[in-house]
Amino acid sequence: MSSQDLLAQRHSARSFSNRPVTRDTLTAIITQAQLAPSWENTQPWKVYIATGDAATRLRQSHFQRHNQGQKSWTEVMPPKKSEWAAFPQANLDAWRSNMLGFFGSDAGQFADVQKDLFNAPALVYLTMPQKSSAYSAYDLGAFGYGILLAAQEHGVSGVPAYELVRYPEEIHQEFDIPADQAIFMGIALGYPSDSKVNALRTKRRPVTDILTLKH
Ligand SMILES: Cc1cc2nc3c(=O)[nH]c(=O)nc-3n(C[C@H](O)[C@H](O)[C@H](O)COP(=O)(O)O)c2cc1C
Repeated sequence: MSSQDLLAQRHSARSFSNRPVTRDTLTAIITQAQLAPSWENTQPWKVYIATGDAATRLRQSHFQRHNQGQKSWTEVMPPKKSEWAAFPQANLDAWRSNMLGFFGSDAGQFADVQKDLFNAPALVYLTMPQKSSAYSAYDLGAFGYGILLAAQEHGVSGVPAYELVRYPEEIHQEFDIPADQAIFMGIALGYPSDSKVNALRTKRRPVTDILTLKH
């Protein structure tokens, strides 16, 4: 598949079938993603993947915490609603209104798939040292996008999701991740089910809204 096709065809899938992703496929995806650029090749990322029983444990524990209304926290705090700058806030509002319009009376489906971590057979967690600069976060983003594109090439779908890292202590425990590693982001991988949630598509701003070209 050309890189143009990969970029155009990738979109978030949020409901997965029970079909597992093999160890070989996961290892190939991560090996390809490792080609991402990073500040002076620091490669600040580590990656932990739960499949099989480990993924079931994490999905169940997440579901329980969610249902009990346990307050979530992440090791890298997202901005509060009022803290977004006007431009991303406008895009967020457009995304929300597109999403609500798409689901209509089925809007609960979007919330429901979050609770059981999308039923994903492979839960991927990206960490970086607690002692990291914003440039390492930039590097981790490149690595994460590489995972999604490499997955796409292997016929595997995914979604990067804050939801996956809302309760980081359960992830630290499952993998015995040292406290000096921050669980920065999660990516759910698998083969999509035929659920309506997987038909959600998003648009981007016209390029002229974001690009300044000068000569
Ligand atoms: C940092 C980050 C956090 C996200 N968190 C969630 C999440 O918790 N739940 C979810 O369903 N999607 C989540 N997403 C997916 C975005 O909603 C999605 O990428 C965006 O709407 C664009 O859609 P697309 O991936 O289909 O192109 C997240 C994406 C990123 C990059």
